[in-house]
Amino acid sequence: MVTATTNRRRIRIACRTLSFLISTYIFTVNLYSQIELTSFNASSSNAIQKNTTTQIKNESSTSSFNDFLIEYMKLTTPLPLPTLTYYDPHLMGGFRNQHMRFVAFVNKAVEHNISQLLLPSLRWGDVSQPGWSVGHEVLFDVVYWNRRAGEFGLPRLVRYEADVLERNIEKEVIPCFNVSSSMYSGLNEKKWRSKGIVLRQNSLWDYLGEPSKYAHCKHQNFDVIQNSHKEIPNGPMTFLVPHGGTKASGRLWWEYDGMQRHRSKPDELTGKYPDHLPIEQAVYKLLIPSLPIRRAIRESLNEAIGTSTINKPTVVALHPRIEHDMLLHDICNEFMQLNLTKIFDSIRIMPKFDLLFVAVSKALVDGKPPDKMNRYKDLMRIALENKIVLNQARNYGVFGSKDQKGIPMLESGTSTTRKIEFPVMEQRNSNGLEVVTAKSLRVTELVASVVNFFTALEADAFVGVRGSTFSQDVFSVRYYQHQDRGDGVGENNFVVGPNGMRQLFGPAEPLPCK
Ligand SMILES: *[C@@H]1O[C@H](CO)[C@@H](O)[C@H](O)[C@H]1NC(C)=O
Ligand SMILES: *[C@@H]1O[C@H](CO)[C@@H](O)[C@H](O)[C@H]1NC(C)=O
Ligand SMILES: *[C@@H]1O[C@H](CO)[C@@H](O)[C@H](O)[C@H]1NC(C)=O
Ligand SMILES: *[C@@H]1O[C@H](CO)[C@@H](O)[C@H](O)[C@H]1NC(C)=O
Ligand SMILES: *[C@@H]1O[C@H](CO)[C@@H](O)[C@H](O)[C@H]1NC(C)=O
Ligand SMILES: *[C@@H]1O[C@H](CO)[C@@H](O)[C@H](O)[C@H]1NC(C)=O
Repeated sequence: MVTATTNRRRIRIACRTLSFLISTYIFTVNLYSQIELTSFNASSSNAIQKNTTTQIKNESSTSSFNDFLIEYMKLTTPLPLPTLTYYDPHLMGGFRNQHMRFVAFVNKAVEHNISQLLLPSLRWGDVSQPGWSVGHEVLFDVVYWNRRAGEFGLPRLVRYEADVLERNIEKEVIPCFNVSSSMYSGLNEKKWRSKGIVLRQNSLWDYLGEPSKYAHCKHQNFDVIQNSHKEIPNGPMTFLVPHGGTKASGRLWWEYDGMQRHRSKPDELTGKYPDHLPIEQAVYKLLIPSLPIRRAIRESLNEAIGTSTINKPTVVALHPRIEHDMLLHDICNEFMQLNLTKIFDSIRIMPKFDLLFVAVSKALVDGKPPDKMNRYKDLMRIALENKIVLNQARNYGVFGSKDQKGIPMLESGTSTTRKIEFPVMEQRNSNGLEVVTAKSLRVTELVASVVNFFTALEADAFVGVRGSTFSQDVFSVRYYQHQDRGDGVGENNFVVGPNGMRQLFGPAEPLPCK
């Protein structure tokens, strides 16, 4: 239980300067305007899948985008050094599951002193749209990552340039990366890109290096020539070092699990769990959303709470995790409160707040429950009731009714995502800026998760659950941000579960279920 005094102390209405996102935004915008306008080689930036609906923007937005691209191209230029390359078509799982795999991938590079990651090989998948994925640079700010990676000893994200990254002694060039498909070479790409491919059931590794002229691409030689001046072996060689899942796609998952081993027990005195490894903490800091996503998050929040710096409204973020798939998750759901009315009752005791931001997947709460739910009458009742309760909160506010207005609720994910326009990096048209949307890329759910995650980091307090990687990561990132700020404003993390709500100190507890 949380006492009101603790709460009052913890959740203070502070005139928060929205430090992190805003300052990097302003920094980046200033930066853009200082760079001189020049042309660049478009063919080496292959950012977004080609067959997507695009729109042309007018000229004034084009010039600042060109400035951005110049910086982007400069910072992503590869050096002839070993470069870790992701060989699966995309990362697997929901947003935070993919993030865990990404952390393991970065860790692999650091362990082997590999200073570059091949950017176009990194794609993030949308669980609700099998076969669809989006380039890393659409979701995340690559310029920001590359500017600061050195500080933390993390690898840089680099573009693919065949003449730098591949060495071909023979007359014929045999590159180990296919620029038109963004895949590691020498495999049946039609098959691996198809909707039907289930990464958990197939081992892409088995197919690498076929046909035989690509044999040199299938290697796990983490000691490939470290410096270009060293002696080059006979025959073709590549600086690309492939890494990714294997059958069951579990490798990165287990590698990530290994990085959590030291966190299994809490400190006896404080009850806090140990911090994550420095590499993971660094990824939490460096992986910030791309500019279009950051801007959209800010606009949605401003719209909901205004921009006044005096009497800044207090925002509580809630991740109830009551989606149908969780109701049916027979291992994790025992750690959760599935009844939204009870969750709302738990937060009723928090000190007064002005806005409740709720991170839910609309489709998986409002939509038709899966047939499997028919077998569980109790769960079906909860699912239908949650839908009504959520709708009521939408219409009348949280704790509100027809007669009495409650606290306004913001659901940001999908609606914010709809407003975002992503510029196409590969820009051939000099008099217009091409943009795509999450919808045209078919990654709306994924982008909505990214929006929800980074919005929850902005709230004055966060209420999450025990059995979800999304909640766990919000807890941890808020904790580390709080440590970095050192301004006395606590991380204000709370866990809601079957037995009510409690405050969480320190980074997230390890996941109790998978
Ligand atoms: C652009 O880069 C590609 C490969 O890096 C190269 O083949 C091509 O000639 C370059 N084009 C121009 C116009 O420089
Ligand atoms: C592009 O996608 C649309 C629909 O998604 C499809 O009808 C069309 O054939 C595709 N075009 C190419 C060139 O693949
Ligand atoms: C071009 O875009 C800018 C800002 O996005 C806008 O102010 C301007 O009116 C637009 N011009 C035209 C001709 O659409
Ligand atoms: C790591 O790589 C750098 C060059 O990128 C090199 O100077 C250094 O000696 C390497 N360290 C180890 C332990 O291999
Ligand atoms: C490269 O990708 C394209 C497009 O997916 C495909 O047609 C081509 O066969 C691939 N090349 C190799 C060597 O696999
Ligand atoms: C959910 O919780 C509320 C409040 O405790 C209760 O009235 C309601 O019956 C519960 N719903 C279900 C389906 O258990």
